[in-house]
Amino acid sequence: MILVTGGAGFIGANFVLDWLARSDEPVLNLDKLTYAGNLENLAPLQGDARHVFVQGDIGDAPLLERLLAQHRPRAVVNFAAESHVDRSIHGPEDFIQTNVVGTMRLLQGVRAYWQTLPESERADFRFLHVSTDEVYGSLSPTDPAFTENNKLEPNSPYSASKAASDHLVRAWLHTYGLPVLTTNCSNNYGPLHFPEKLIPLIIVNALAGKPLPVYGDGLQVRDWLYVKDHCSAIRRVLAAGRVGEIYNVGGWNEKPNIEIVKTICSLLDELRPRSDGGSYQTQITYVQDRPGHDRRYAIDASKIERELGWKPAETFATGIRKTVQWYLENQAWVTHVQSGAYREWVQTNYADR
Ligand code: NAD
Ligand code: DAU
Repeated sequence: MILVTGGAGFIGANFVLDWLARSDEPVLNLDKLTYAGNLENLAPLQGDARHVFVQGDIGDAPLLERLLAQHRPRAVVNFAAESHVDRSIHGPEDFIQTNVVGTMRLLQGVRAYWQTLPESERADFRFLHVSTDEVYGSLSPTDPAFTENNKLEPNSPYSASKAASDHLVRAWLHTYGLPVLTTNCSNNYGPLHFPEKLIPLIIVNALAGKPLPVYGDGLQVRDWLYVKDHCSAIRRVLAAGRVGEIYNVGGWNEKPNIEIVKTICSLLDELRPRSDGGSYQTQITYVQDRPGHDRRYAIDASKIERELGWKPAETFATGIRKTVQWYLENQAWVTHVQSGAYREWVQTNYADR
């Protein structure tokens, strides 16, 4: 089996669902269930013996020791993190605890377990760390896209904590020989995205008749990748990535934020026209900028394409349409997340486990 951490969050849940749709190799899913962890995301796996869910912290060393000894995974995929930049600006503490201290404890626990494995299993073992393009800092409009050789120049408490975790992962290879892999991916979007992040927030606010907040001048650029394509890249790196290597993952989809917001408005105008006949674009509201806001991210994904033959399946046009449709068809999920009822869903559906 494989151990997935943070598998009840946005990308982790998509990864677990896709993994078990493609293979019968079981998943041990360790997630603390912070505000961002939602077991409702994993509802299709209820009663499926291939999915073992444990509520717990990657920083809980005794728990890790017990779980690793009991389940003996052949690989770890580490999604667990505090992930929202705005939250990190208001309260960096949790980011340091989970992303830095938690990653270090996870590495330590996994290393101790890995050292007990027979030689052949030790050689085949993998620790895949899921990281972000934000560790590379911010680009000017004319800079080339980030490659794996860019310096780490993080600018927010979130990206600084992720850069620290990337360094720890590298150090556990060089010092202890743990067979690690790191992926640095651009902005994801798609089903199960918590509506505090730009794309789901705009969809949900638009449908609720609320303002659509655009930070600053709205001309910051992000490089968007459909979440299922990120999941396929992680599967590919896990299967064939070279130990110790970093793989940048991205969809060559650079877009200014205001264009993203207007695209969502146009799709909603088509798929769920407003009752007053007006465009959702009239709800766009420019608001105060994010402190230290990175101007541009762009990922050069040529290494993973060249070495591992990975390519995204979705264009931005196809991915964003699927995403808007998913939110239109899953209003109950949105309501549960917004009301906090998703936490009760755990009680109701998992109370006897
Ligand atoms: P998310 O916030 O939606 O989910 C994070 C999950 O981790 C939640 O289920 C949460 O409960 C869990 N978690 C948090 N602290 C934990 C702890 N101490 N122990 C165990 N579980 C814990 O995040 P996401 O957007 O799915 O991102 C997943 C990973 O991918 C993160 O490491 C993030 O840095 C990285 N990443 C995200 C993006 C993106 O666009 N969302 C892009 C590139 C990389
Ligand atoms: O680049 C990868 C990163 O992408 C991940 O590592 C992070 O975990 C993930 O949260 C995301 O970070 P961003 O800060 O880029 O995502 P967010 O959705 O918060 O914001 C996207 C852009 O939209 C950013 O320039 C800020 C802007 N924005 C965001 C919100 C929430 C707005 O203009 N208005 C908003 O209300």
